[in-house]
Amino acid sequence: MDQDIYGVHRWGAELLTILPNGHIGLRNPMNPDHSAVDLVKVVESLKMRGISVPMLLRIEDFLGYRMKLITDSFNEAIKSLDYQGSYRGVFPVKVNQQAQVIDRIVEYGRSMNFGLEVGSKPELLIALAHRLSSEAVIICNGIKDSEFIQLALMSQQLGFKTILVLESPKELELVLSEAERLKIRPNLGVRIKLTHRVSGKWATSSGDRSSFGMTTTQLVDVIDQLRTRGYLDCLMLQHAHLGSQIPHIIEVRKAVKEACTFYAELKREGAPLTYLDIGGGLGVDYTGEHKSDANSINYSLQEYCTNVVETIKFALDEQNIEHPYIISESGRACVAHSSMLIFNVLEVTRYDSPHPVEISEDDHELIRNILEVESYLTELRLQECLNDLCYYREELRLRFRTRQSSLRQLAKGEQAFLYMIHRLKQVANQCEHVHEELKRSLEDMSDIYHCNFSLFQSLPDVWAIDQVHPIAPIQRLNEQPTRHGTLSDITCDSDGKIDQFVVATGVQRTLPLHEVAEHEDYYLGVFFVGAYQETLGDLHNLFGDTHVVTISLQAQREDGFELLHEQEGDSISEVLSYVEYDPRTLMNAFKSVVEEALSRGLIDIYQRREFIHAYKESMTGYTYYED
Ligand SMILES: Cc1ncc(COP(=O)(O)O)c(C=O)c1O
Repeated sequence: MDQDIYGVHRWGAELLTILPNGHIGLRNPMNPDHSAVDLVKVVESLKMRGISVPMLLRIEDFLGYRMKLITDSFNEAIKSLDYQGSYRGVFPVKVNQQAQVIDRIVEYGRSMNFGLEVGSKPELLIALAHRLSSEAVIICNGIKDSEFIQLALMSQQLGFKTILVLESPKELELVLSEAERLKIRPNLGVRIKLTHRVSGKWATSSGDRSSFGMTTTQLVDVIDQLRTRGYLDCLMLQHAHLGSQIPHIIEVRKAVKEACTFYAELKREGAPLTYLDIGGGLGVDYTGEHKSDANSINYSLQEYCTNVVETIKFALDEQNIEHPYIISESGRACVAHSSMLIFNVLEVTRYDSPHPVEISEDDHELIRNILEVESYLTELRLQECLNDLCYYREELRLRFRTRQSSLRQLAKGEQAFLYMIHRLKQVANQCEHVHEELKRSLEDMSDIYHCNFSLFQSLPDVWAIDQVHPIAPIQRLNEQPTRHGTLSDITCDSDGKIDQFVVATGVQRTLPLHEVAEHEDYYLGVFFVGAYQETLGDLHNLFGDTHVVTISLQAQREDGFELLHEQEGDSISEVLSYVEYDPRTLMNAFKSVVEEALSRGLIDIYQRREFIHAYKESMTGYTYYED
């Protein structure tokens, strides 16, 4: 098969490829001369070490690469447009708070003066435990109490460039009283509410009705208070979060231009601003379609940076205002690419059957009718055949419900129906064009691949906001898939399913998949899950965190990687304690149940031992399906 039907080369960009053996290859963008590392080999090698699927695999080279790419692209735009200020990247901690991720962002980011954005006290505590470069900023957004403010102010004395971004006039009062108490001149910012509203899934984080930021009336009030109380000279930053995953580049330009108008006005008011913070919004092309759509973007990274820098330069040059530092809080674009979720397929439910049915004299007429559809099954009459099949089957079901047909006859009729659907799909697969209605009906009869993961734990945005992530088998990509399916997770919830998939031609309701042999480990990868997914997840059915492994690509090594860190997934006793069960109390309660069974003669003394041992073992086990 020479076709990339999943579009790996489209959305996988410079990070993923398909190897000649049909496996997904992980490219090392930091060392493009190195050969791509075989992802299946990585998973198998981790399995040999005792780390099973489902697992979240973090590739640290991808993270470092994305940070460098964003910084380099801004720097290049700055240079080519002769912009007089500099770029300061800031990672919003909420996008992925995991210690391994933040540690690496800080480490990589030091030479690029990367800072951190925090929106709560715990996030501030994380930031203050890291050694940032002296030029890097810590942006404090969100609603702050005096404890938060006090800590942020004290950190200035430790040499951190911590900037308290005022969200409201009320917050100003708290900040100034803490600053006066501690005798510190605070580094201040103001968060403004832009009137421009962007499109996409996060439209409500921009415009008039956005939850954060000050209205113009509040802004004027804050400026007046700062001036009156002698703190206007502390105002160094203006912040406006444009939104997240902005699909259209023109919206970025318009919002940045409006931010510049505010910036110029604040300068005119006498605020000595030097930082212009444009928040998040830089999108990820999850589908690789390069179009203005909820799961794609119609611009490149370089284009985004050039547009931002150019818009700021033009807007401020017109008013003779010095070029500020440009801060962007790009979270998604920084980390999404670096993680992938890998899981195995446990079972497949098919809605067709390749096994023909032998008809006999005594069989019901309707079963005969179903099988006779074959005699006129042609490309042109596909819809008619499907209509007839559904009609005959329904009639047979009706006979069963009214006790005019037996269970065995119904079962045979159902089997005949599934066989004919199989034949119909075979003919449809040969057609160049299948009508939309027929296509949808066949999609509704696609396979269900039951998989070893929890949507609610590992892909919460897929469940909550229909986020589309690219998904593909990580093996057999040199083999034509013969099935189409949707994915169902391991939870007992009908919502735990995925039915939107990226393929080379766009997004569709089913995923092309291979027939899975009985003992085959058939792995699927969900890509670009490094942003937002890790901490939004929940414990539905008490499926806990998966194993998490961080690796760096080492093409010269036998298995292609170095294992940097392993975080074991939640054990059963851990998830039980999250919902306030004490594993020891549970154990004792089970022991008394077993003891009672023994005293009633239901089990013998050896079984007692065995049952208690099995319970104990389960407590320390993984919450997911294990071989
Ligand atoms: C204030 C702020 N900054 C940055 C971000 C990160 O946005 P993104 O992930 O789109 O870069 C967010 C997320 O919504 C945010 O609220």
